[in-house]
Amino acid sequence: MSTAKKVALISGANKGIGFETARQLGQKGITVVLGARDLAKGEAAAATLKKEGIDARAVKFDVVDAADVKAAADTIGKEFGKLDILVNNAGVMFEAIGGNNSSTVSDETLRKTFDTNFFSVIAVTNAFLPLLKKSDAGRIVNVSSILGSLTLHATEGSPIYEAKALAYDASKAAQNAYTIHLAHELKGTKIKVNSAHPGWVKTDMGTDAAPMNVVDGAKTEVELATLGPDGPTGGFFHLGEAISW
Ligand SMILES: NC(=O)c1ccc[n+]([C@@H]2O[C@H](COP(=O)([O-])OP(=O)(O)OC[C@H]3O[C@@H](n4cnc5c(N)ncnc54)[C@H](OP(=O)(O)O)[C@@H]3O)[C@@H](O)[C@H]2O)c1
Repeated sequence: MSTAKKVALISGANKGIGFETARQLGQKGITVVLGARDLAKGEAAAATLKKEGIDARAVKFDVVDAADVKAAADTIGKEFGKLDILVNNAGVMFEAIGGNNSSTVSDETLRKTFDTNFFSVIAVTNAFLPLLKKSDAGRIVNVSSILGSLTLHATEGSPIYEAKALAYDASKAAQNAYTIHLAHELKGTKIKVNSAHPGWVKTDMGTDAAPMNVVDGAKTEVELATLGPDGPTGGFFHLGEAISW
């Protein structure tokens, strides 16, 4: 038996945009499972949301750890019998934006970045697809970045033209390709898959120089996580506007 209440899993939800996404989904009456690679931090974040009246819990969830991913899928399957929303939010950046490092970035940085921002997104999604298929309206949000836009990187004068950092940018472009491919595979099902650009947001990754606060920064993820049946699939969005791939 699956619960009538909607259930969402957000990776990297102990802080930043992921935490705020969990809060805003929770405020809509959705049960939120906060994925955190450090369970203590996840539990502290869930406790904060519980105090605000949100049905929140934490799960140990290092997205690059296959055992964590399987255990989390087993736990959510046993407890809820389905998953309605998967937000692949966990992400890393080890480079300076605008570092122009295409000829110098290390193999290690490339691989570590792709492990989290690309390979884990596929592994996590595959682990949860059977549960998402049990939802009446499965929603997958891949948290990308405008820095993954090949079109804008190739367009002189675009807002990101000078903001090159190869490992991060390529990992998000690859993630975007996954969104398009998975949405195509799932066409005709109840599951929608989209990529989100949160904006440049004040977080540990975005730094204090960012113009957007985290409340606005979570809005695109929340919007795509709660799309109605007529909503898009296979798209790339920021606050309701399509972004060039
Ligand atoms: N901030 C921006 O301006 C901006 C712009 C465009 C896109 N984004 C994207 O938005 C997403 C959230 O970023 P943010 O700004 O909120 O960054 P953040 O504050 O640095 O938070 C990143 C989160 O991801 C988690 N994480 C990293 N590696 C993980 C792993 N292997 N397993 C599980 N969790 C992991 C971190 O956990 P720990 O606390 O354990 O490190 C943290 O919870 C990322 O995908 C990022 O690329 C951000």
